[in-house]
Amino acid sequence: MTAAQPVTESAAAQAFRLRRARTSDVAAIRRLVAPLAERRILISKESVAYYEAIQEFRVAETPEGELIGCGALHVMWEDLAEVRTLAAADDWRGRGVGHALVEQLLRDAVDVGVQRVFCLTFEVGFFERHGFEVMADQSAVDPEVYSELLRSSDEGVAEFLDLARVKPNTLGNTRMIKWLAGRARE
Ligand SMILES: CC(C)(COP(=O)(O)OP(=O)(O)OC[C@H]1O[C@@H](n2cnc3c(N)ncnc32)[C@H](O)[C@@H]1OP(=O)(O)O)[C@@H](O)C(=O)NCCC(=O)NCCS
Repeated sequence: MTAAQPVTESAAAQAFRLRRARTSDVAAIRRLVAPLAERRILISKESVAYYEAIQEFRVAETPEGELIGCGALHVMWEDLAEVRTLAAADDWRGRGVGHALVEQLLRDAVDVGVQRVFCLTFEVGFFERHGFEVMADQSAVDPEVYSELLRSSDEGVAEFLDLARVKPNTLGNTRMIKWLAGRARE
């Protein structure tokens, strides 16, 4: 098991640590996501979807073990992954939890070997400050890959592709993308 690691040097960050998610975190992740899903900020998912994706998740927790943030990196294609289900608890907003999670997920992206990381978000300024750009051309994949991605049953992928059946969930959020420099660590 990977040990929890300190997040940054800053005093604010000393109050929480990041670690890989465990199956026992699913209930707390759902509690974080539920109010955001109700407001259509994040996609609502069944518990089984979180268990199936648990290895994609990083969580932030207090020294007392309270889960105060989560985020996942979902690989979509050889060179493309998505930061998804990024959330910080309301009373922890603005204290670096989101920042630490995004930076960790970007390191995960380098490790897994993708070159581009995409997100669908209303938090445009936040992601811009982490190097993401609003996609001028909203289609990030060539037609051949697009047709392959259509085979996915994943709701997030469908939303990325802007399929008609998920349009009610998008509510005008913005597609953003970041090109990664550097290579996967050995
Ligand atoms: C996006 C979200 C995860 C950010 O979480 P957060 O923990 O508040 O984020 P941070 O504290 O790292 O950054 C927020 C601000 O606090 C400031 N901040 C305060 N202390 C900080 C610290 N120690 N380290 C870094 N930033 C700090 C930053 O300047 C930052 O400003 P910015 O947003 O203008 O860049 C959170 O707003 C959220 O849960 N939103 C709803 C879900 C969502 O939209 N997710 C994205 C789509 S997947």
